[in-house]
Amino acid sequence: MIFHFTGVVAMDERRAIGLRGSLPWHIPADLRHFKQITMSHPILMGRKTFESLGRPLPGRQNIVLSRNADYRPEGICIIRDLSELEQIKLQNPEIMVIGGAKIYKLLLPLMSKLHVSRVPGFHKADTFFPPFEHLFPAHSSPLPMDGFSAITYTR
Ligand SMILES: NC(=O)c1ccc[n+]([C@@H]2O[C@H](COP(=O)([O-])OP(=O)(O)OC[C@H]3O[C@@H](n4cnc5c(N)ncnc54)[C@H](OP(=O)(O)O)[C@@H]3O)[C@@H](O)[C@H]2O)c1
Repeated sequence: MIFHFTGVVAMDERRAIGLRGSLPWHIPADLRHFKQITMSHPILMGRKTFESLGRPLPGRQNIVLSRNADYRPEGICIIRDLSELEQIKLQNPEIMVIGGAKIYKLLLPLMSKLHVSRVPGFHKADTFFPPFEHLFPAHSSPLPMDGFSAITYTR
C-alpha cells in the first residue's frame, strides 16, 4: 500500500511538547480535537509516547517504534524500523504521526501535512518539536478553539 504521513502535535509558543514523560498542560478540547483528527487512521508513535498513553487508543491501528526486540505489549503493532511499515496492512493510507520528539524529528522530512494545536504561552518543558515552518509553504488561518488554535500546514 502507498502511504503518507501527517503529523499531529500540540505545542506552545516555544515549540514545547512534553514534560517528564507527559504533556505540559491539560486541555480537554485539544484531546477531543486529537481524537477527531486521528480516528480511523493508523497512529505511529515512539515507545515513550505509547507508555505515556498507557494503553492502545481505540478505533485506531496503534503502531509503535521501538528498537527493543523484547518489547511486545498486547494490542499494538511494534516496528523496529520504518521500513517495516511496508509489511503492515494499514486501515488507511494516511498515517498519523503522533510523537514524541524523536518520532517527529524522524518523520518531519516525510510529512506532507502537519496539524498543529498552538497553545498560548511558555510552559515548563523538557521536550520540544523541531523548527518546522520553513518546510511547509502553506498553512490554514489559525482556528481559535478552547485553549488553543488549530493550524494545518501543508506542502
Ligand atoms: N504535545 C504533543 O502533541 C505530544 C505528542 C506526543 C508526545 N508528547 C510528549 O513527548 C514526550 C516523549 O517524547 P520522546 O522524544 O522522549 O519519546 P518518543 O519519541 O515518544 O519515543 C522515543 C522512543 O522511540 C523509539 N525510537 C525512536 N527512534 C526510533 C527509531 N529510529 N527506530 C526505532 N525506534 C525508535 C525508542 O524506543 P526504545 O527505547 O524502546 O528503543 C525511543 O526511546 C513525552 O513528554 C510526551 O508526553 C507530546
